[in-house]
Amino acid sequence: MMEKNPYSESGRPVVYVGMSADMIHPGHLNIIRHACELGEVTVGVLTDEAIASYKRLPYLNYDQRAEIVSSIKGVAHVVKQTTLDYVPNLLKIRPQYVVHGDDWKEGVQKKTRERIIECLAQWGGEVIDVPYTKGISSTAMNTRLKEIGTTPEIRLRRLRRLIGAKKIVRVMESHSGLTGLIIENTSVSKNGMKVEFDAMWASSLTDSTSKGKPDTEAVDLTNRLQELNDTLEVTTKPVIFDGDTGGQIGNFKFTVRTLERLGVSAIIIEDKTGAKKNSLFGTDVLQQQDSIENFCEKIRAGKKAQITDAFMIIARVESLIAGKGVDDALERALAYCEAGADGIMIHSKDTSGEDIKEFCLRFREKKPDVPIVAVPTTYNHVTEDELASWGVNIVIYANHLLRAAYPAMVGCATSILENGRCKEASEKYCMSIKDILSLIPQK
Ligand code: SPV
Ligand code: MG
Repeated sequence: MMEKNPYSESGRPVVYVGMSADMIHPGHLNIIRHACELGEVTVGVLTDEAIASYKRLPYLNYDQRAEIVSSIKGVAHVVKQTTLDYVPNLLKIRPQYVVHGDDWKEGVQKKTRERIIECLAQWGGEVIDVPYTKGISSTAMNTRLKEIGTTPEIRLRRLRRLIGAKKIVRVMESHSGLTGLIIENTSVSKNGMKVEFDAMWASSLTDSTSKGKPDTEAVDLTNRLQELNDTLEVTTKPVIFDGDTGGQIGNFKFTVRTLERLGVSAIIIEDKTGAKKNSLFGTDVLQQQDSIENFCEKIRAGKKAQITDAFMIIARVESLIAGKGVDDALERALAYCEAGADGIMIHSKDTSGEDIKEFCLRFREKKPDVPIVAVPTTYNHVTEDELASWGVNIVIYANHLLRAAYPAMVGCATSILENGRCKEASEKYCMSIKDILSLIPQK
C-alpha cells in the first residue's frame, strides 16, 4: 500500500504555493483560490533569509507572515521555505501541483520556475501559472509603505533580523538627510537580484567633518543627534551609531536609552580612553586604550540600562590600530563578550586585510555566533564575499559619501574662481536645475 502523504489529509491532490506574503493582496488570494480548486493547499512561506537572498527584507517577520497565511481560507498547511529555490521543499512534500502567478515566467524567478518543472517531472507533477492579477503592484505598495515610513520600534529590531537573514549586512555612512536618502533609495540590479544598502552608519568622522570639526568627540551627543534626526526623518533603514568611546560610564547609560528611544539599532563603542583621535591616524598620534576591566564595566552598564531586548552594544577593539597585534585583540574581544557585548568590531589601518582575516578566523573558532563588524577603509580591495567567508557579519563603508562629495565641491568652487563665471562648473560638476528641483518630491 502507498504511504499516505501528510500534506493530503483529505486524500485530494497535494498543491504547493510558495510566497513571501509580506503584504497580502487580492492577487495572493486569487492564487490560493485557484490552488484550492486543484487540491489540498500547502503554502511555503519564505523565511527572511530566503527573501533577503534576492530582495529587501520584508516588513513583517516570518512568524507574523506565517500567522496571516495560516488564517487564509483554503490554506491547509503552512511550512517554512528557507531558500528561494523550491526544490528542497518539493522533494519533501511531493506536490502534484505548484501554483504561482504567471509573472514568474520572466525576470528573477524564471530560473526558479524551470527548476520546479524539472523537479515535478520526477513524479508527474505540474506547474500551474495563474494569470497575474492586474491593477495590483507589490512595487507600488512598497513605495507607499516607504512613504508611510517606519516606527522606532520596527526600525530598531530590523538590524538583528538582517544579521539573522543575510550572509553579510551592508552598511553605508550617513551624515545628513540627503545622504540618508541616497542610502535608502540607491539600488543596482545584479543577475536579476536587487542589491542595495541594508543600514546606515552614523559615523563620528563624517558627522564631525561635515560640521568642520575634528573627529575628537568635539561634536557632542546633542549635536550628533540633530544630524541623526535629519536622517531618521526621511529614511526607514536601521542605524548603527558610532558612539566613539561611549564617554564616562555614568553617562553611557543615558546615551543608550536616548538611542533606543530614537529607534537606533546599535551603538559601537571603542576601547579607547582620554582624548580620542580618529583610528586611521594609527600610532602617529597618542591614543590610549582603555583597560579591559574598565571597558567591560562600561559594556555592563550599557547592557543594564537598555530597555528593549533588541538594542545592540557592539564593542570595538582597537588593539590592531594601536599596534598590539591579534593576540591582544582576541583577549579583549573575548573579555568584552563575557561582559555582555552583542558583537565585536575589529578595526585596523593595515592595507592588506591579513590581520583582520586572522582575527576573524580565530575569533570565530571561539565564538561561532557573535556578530563581527569590519570597516574595510584601508583594505578596500577585499570584497564582501571574502569578508563573509572570514565570518564577518556587518561591513561598514564608513566615510565614502562624504569623501566623494568633498572633491566635487572643491572642484566646483575652484572652477568658478578660475573662470569668473559658473558655466564650466555647472557643466562639469553639477546636476541640472531640473534634477535638483525634482530630487525631493514636493508633496
Ligand atoms: C568613523 O567612521 O567615525 C569611525 C571609523 O569610527 S574610522 O574613521 O575608521 O575610525
Ligand atoms: Mg568614529
